[in-house]
Formats: sequence, C-alpha cells, structure tokens
Amino acid sequence: MRRVMLRAITKGLIASPISGGRMMSNTSLSGKVAIVTASTDGIGLAAAQALGKRGAHVVVSSRRQANVDKAVSLLRNENIEVIGTTCNVGNREDRERLVNMAVEQCGGIDILVSNAAVNPFFGNILESTDEVWSKILDVNVKAAFLLTKQVFPHMVKRGGGSVVFVSSVAGYQPMQGLGPYSVSKTALLGLTQALAPELAQSNIRVNCVAPGIIKTRFSAALWQSEEVANEFLKLLSIKRLGMPEDIGGVITFLCSEDASYITGETITVTGGMNCRL
Ligand SMILES: NC(=O)c1ccc[n+]([C@@H]2O[C@H](COP(=O)([O-])OP(=O)(O)OC[C@H]3O[C@@H](n4cnc5c(N)ncnc54)[C@H](OP(=O)(O)O)[C@@H]3O)[C@@H](O)[C@H]2O)c1
Repeated sequence: MRRVMLRAITKGLIASPISGGRMMSNTSLSGKVAIVTASTDGIGLAAAQALGKRGAHVVVSSRRQANVDKAVSLLRNENIEVIGTTCNVGNREDRERLVNMAVEQCGGIDILVSNAAVNPFFGNILESTDEVWSKILDVNVKAAFLLTKQVFPHMVKRGGGSVVFVSSVAGYQPMQGLGPYSVSKTALLGLTQALAPELAQSNIRVNCVAPGIIKTRFSAALWQSEEVANEFLKLLSIKRLGMPEDIGGVITFLCSEDASYITGETITVTGGMNCRL
C-alpha cells in the first residue's frame, strides 16, 4: 500500500513540477524595463548591473550628474542597455522626471528597485531632532512609497510588475547609534506587507531585501577599521563582509519569474547575521 502511494506521489511530481509546470528556470528579463534608484554606486549599481546582464533595459539615477554619467558608461561598456538621469528621490519633480523618462524612452516600466536611503545622524536616539526624522522618513520611507505609487499605473499597463525595497538587517534589530535610520528600515518591512496584497490584484509583486554589512561607501564606518570589522565578523556565519553583488543577485531573483510566487516577503542577505528562526 505504502509503495503504491509513494509511486503515485513520485509520478505526480514528475508530471507536474512544483514550478507550476515550468520545467526550466526562467530568469531572462529581456524586454523588461527596470528603474533602480540610487544606482550609481554600491548596491544600486550592482542591482542595475545584475538586472542588465539578465537582459533588462535599466534606468539608473542618483543625485549627481557626474555619477550618473559614470554609471551609464560603465554599464554600456558591459553591453547593458541603459539610460540615466539625476533623481534625488526625496524630490517629487525628480521622481516624476525619472518615471517619465523610463516611459518615454524605454516604452514602459516593469520593475522598480527602491534602493535610496540617507543617514544624517549617528548618536543616542534621544538626541535626534525633528529635522533628522523628517529627512530620514522622507527619503527612506515616503519616497519609496510615492515612487511605487507613481510607477503603479505604468506596471498595470504592462499587465504586472515587481517592486523591491532595500531595507537592512537594522530593520529587524536596531543598530546602536543608528536609531532613526533603523526605524526607517523597519518601516520598509511594513510597507512591503501593506502593499503586497493590494498590488497582487494587479499582478504586481512587492518584496524586500535586508542586507547585512555590505562593503560600500555608505557603510565605511562599519568596516574601514579592522578592529570594528572584526567585531562584526564575529556575528557572521560566513566569515567575510558582503559585497554589493551579493545583494544585486538576490534583487534580480526577486524581480524574475523564478520568484513568481513570492510577494510580501523580505529576504535577509547577511552572511548568517541575526538569522531568523
Ligand atoms: N552598505 C551596507 O552595509 C548596507 C546595509 C544594509 C542596507 N543598506 C542599504 O542599501 C542601500 C544602498 O546603500 P549602499 O551601501 O549601496 O550605498 P552607497 O554605495 O554609498 O551608494 C549610495 C548611492 O545612493 C545615491 N544616493 C544617495 N542619496 C540619494 C538620494 N537622496 N536620492 C537618490 N540617490 C541617492 C548615491 O549617489 P549620489 O551621491 O550621486 O546621489 C549612490 O549612488 C541603502 O538603502 C542602504 O540603507 C546598505
């Protein structure tokens, strides 16, 4: 009896693989248009690179024209289809220009990677000011939502899409000295879950990545001194700091058809720091 049941289950699995009928991985993003914010350096640039290598037409941006020009030429040298513009995500007109440019020059929008963040404060949380909180919440949280709202109708026109927010391990466990920043990253976990059910009705998936310590300019204070870096390494299972490419690949996975049944989720990419469950 047991053998008969096992044979039936095995037969069923072979006939209908768990990918819902697709036997092969389908990670090509050819024909897709991807906006990545804060994408002239670090994690954003690595995400643009990874998406572009999978065939997406990428739209890069950041605050400084010189940085945009540099990123565009770097990606073009790698045969990636790319355009770029300046965009401070905290500025509504900049966001509108970014979205309009993608629609006019690339024909639509399928993917949004909301990666920009600022941290103008380090210290005891009680010493953080009204201005610090406004800046952090405006850029790190509100802009992520408002940009999603701006791209939404364009994704609907394409029949669906994918949004990825870049949070942080600090969103799960606030880092000492980085209270307001950590809270803004926790808010992105909530934003992901708040948006996912509503946008699923339009075939748009909303997910999030929470990187650990990744070697970029933004996190230099955490790894430039060997002593500080060694303290962090003690918390990791994989005994190296993360590289931007470690995050770019996971973002690209979330944007691809391989992740077609994942929404409202946050993937922590930390080398094993603060593993959950
Ligand atoms: N590195 C880490 O360890 C780590 C860990 C967890 C989470 N994260 C998150 O990862 C994201 C990217 O950080 P990163 O480490 O890759 O930083 P990064 O290497 O320093 O790059 C920052 C990028 O953001 C742009 N930028 C800064 N402010 C902006 C704004 N207001 N609007 C648009 N672009 C802006 C910069 O270019 P311009 O100067 O030209 O604007 C640059 O391209 C952030 O959300 C950060 O919170 C990083």
